[in-house]
Amino acid sequence: MAVVVPEAVLRHGDARPMPAVGMGVAEYPSTPERTRDAVLAALEAGFRHFDTASLYRTEAPLGEAIAEATRRGLLASREEAFVTTKLWCTQCHPDLVLPSLRESLRNLQMEYVDLYLIHLPISVKPGPMVFPVKKEDVVPFDFGGVWRAMEECHRLGLAKAIGVSNFTTKHIDKLLAVATILPAVNQVEMNPTWQQRTVREYCDAKGIRVTAYSPLGGQNWGGSANYVMESSVLTEIARARGKSIAQVSLRWIYEQGVTPIAKSYRKERLKENLEIFDWELTDEDRLKISQIPQRKRVTAASLFSPDGEFTSVDLPDIEIVEE
Ligand SMILES: NC(=O)c1ccc[n+]([C@@H]2O[C@H](COP(=O)([O-])OP(=O)(O)OC[C@H]3O[C@@H](n4cnc5c(N)ncnc54)[C@H](OP(=O)(O)O)[C@@H]3O)[C@@H](O)[C@H]2O)c1
Repeated sequence: MAVVVPEAVLRHGDARPMPAVGMGVAEYPSTPERTRDAVLAALEAGFRHFDTASLYRTEAPLGEAIAEATRRGLLASREEAFVTTKLWCTQCHPDLVLPSLRESLRNLQMEYVDLYLIHLPISVKPGPMVFPVKKEDVVPFDFGGVWRAMEECHRLGLAKAIGVSNFTTKHIDKLLAVATILPAVNQVEMNPTWQQRTVREYCDAKGIRVTAYSPLGGQNWGGSANYVMESSVLTEIARARGKSIAQVSLRWIYEQGVTPIAKSYRKERLKENLEIFDWELTDEDRLKISQIPQRKRVTAASLFSPDGEFTSVDLPDIEIVEE
């Protein structure tokens, strides 16, 4: 039996409520077949919330899987799924936002996305999507122009809700100064080892829903340590509750009023990652988690190639870390 997942209402009235756990649809390297099969397995397990981005090159297999699920009767219609995609830095220019969303929609074979996010508060000269980003290609971010174009995507009904990702309070302040339609969501790195208290408090006060990427500490790119899965505090709590470390982390995030976006392409883990709604952490667990030393994985500096220089922006202006 598929798990019934609670949902959170977003500030944009016509948006479908957001299911309280999402599936991350990003894997490097991967194949479209692997992604399509994983999304179908996720739909079977009960996932209805999917997170992709133009950068991930998984929009097409995600769209195919949702169409296939509709044909098979797993979904009554596309409306049952909540789909997020993101605007990459090279498209963060007022005249490129709408064409970029239209291209994402073509890839997804959809009429609209449920949520469209600015991927990073970083604008890069138009050109091919290259990662890591070249420092000298970074240009000042046009908050007014880019957000007005995001608002247009919403007005046209192509994005039911619009929001941002990796924005600090400083970036959101700049956006709010020019926004007519307020952002519904800020997607940031968050888990028990990077709790984002400042950003969360700020977003709560402004009615912005926070979603958590890398809720399990992230994928093991370059053999880096995983502070979540290797945490002795989480290991101890997991043992005491008879749950997995992944479930403890996801449950803690959910209890903070944040929506975790967890990536797994494995059937048994997809199921496990949804089984967090029929039990609770104790006050003692929460206290121990609140005392875990804090370490962020993704910084602005880590997004850029090691050589080259910034010529038109300063690194602190685009920094995505906030204590
Ligand atoms: N906005 C942004 O800038 C941004 C940045 C990063 C990520 N994201 C989004 O957030 C999603 C998730 O983030 P993420 O991929 O960095 O990290 P994550 O979800 O924290 O971790 C994914 C890793 O954990 C493993 N895993 C999943 N479930 C598990 C379980 N129950 N037990 C043990 N291991 C488990 C996965 O392996 P298997 O697949 O082998 O199970 C994978 O290696 C991405 O897919 C993407 O959609 C957004």
